[in-house]
Amino acid sequence: MPSEEILGVARLIKGAKKVVVLTGAGISVESGIPDFRGPDGLWKRYSPDKVGTITSFLSNPEEWWKMAQEIAPVLFNAQPNLGHFALAELEKMGKVEAIITQNIDGLHQKAGSKKVVEVHGNVRSASCVECRKKHSIEYVISEVGKGNYMPQCTDCGGVVKVDVVMFGEMLPEEAISEAYRLAQECDLLLVVGSSLVVYPVAALPGMALNRGAKTVIINMEKTGYTKYANYHIYGKAGEVLPQIVEALKIL
Ligand code: APR
Repeated sequence: MPSEEILGVARLIKGAKKVVVLTGAGISVESGIPDFRGPDGLWKRYSPDKVGTITSFLSNPEEWWKMAQEIAPVLFNAQPNLGHFALAELEKMGKVEAIITQNIDGLHQKAGSKKVVEVHGNVRSASCVECRKKHSIEYVISEVGKGNYMPQCTDCGGVVKVDVVMFGEMLPEEAISEAYRLAQECDLLLVVGSSLVVYPVAALPGMALNRGAKTVIINMEKTGYTKYANYHIYGKAGEVLPQIVEALKIL
């Protein structure tokens, strides 16, 4: 029998007109991809100031590539987990309008979710930091494989960088505008696996609350928005989300 809080969340989803989901690195931890600020997070092993900013990348790309090469095998071989599949099922059931994700791993799409807004980019392509010309990820990986940590743009010779957003960079305009629209139009925002500390994405729950939306947080740790949430379920996304889907089916 589902717990009272699982049933409570399922009732909120059932009664909502427009459910939007916001995911962070925590939903992919059960797929083997480390998060950033959890106990085994990437920022416990690497300093974001040294390898996470656009200025540090341009002045010393080798550091960023060393970290990227450590997680690349895990990232490229990762499979969706039960949390990703549960969200894809909710979309199929017509219960989720869209997923706004901070993740670059593409696992929501692999799990079958159709409407996914990638606000921090993805690892499927690369662009020149000067003229923005698109390059294939294969081109970049082959250059780095030859020891060239600053692949040159085939048009202007500028540095080509994987299309993930680094600190100090603008977010993809279309994606973040869509995320703002979704947060302001939803009447229920589900936040899954995010510490909600990185802006502008961390402003999304506040935007939803200001419009009177209800919020639910599924996260292993407390967040700054926990006190405003209708529910904060402490648990693993891959365990909690399937329970919510099952509870929804018996309501
Ligand atoms: N299920 C649910 N929550 C989990 C799980 C899990 N299996 N594993 C970890 N978590 C929680 C952690 O407790 C943590 O609060 O997920 C949260 C992940 O938070 P972060 O590591 O800060 O990741 P995120 O919120 O996505 O970070 C935002 O910061 O460094 C940048 O660009 C990077 O997109 C990233 C952004």
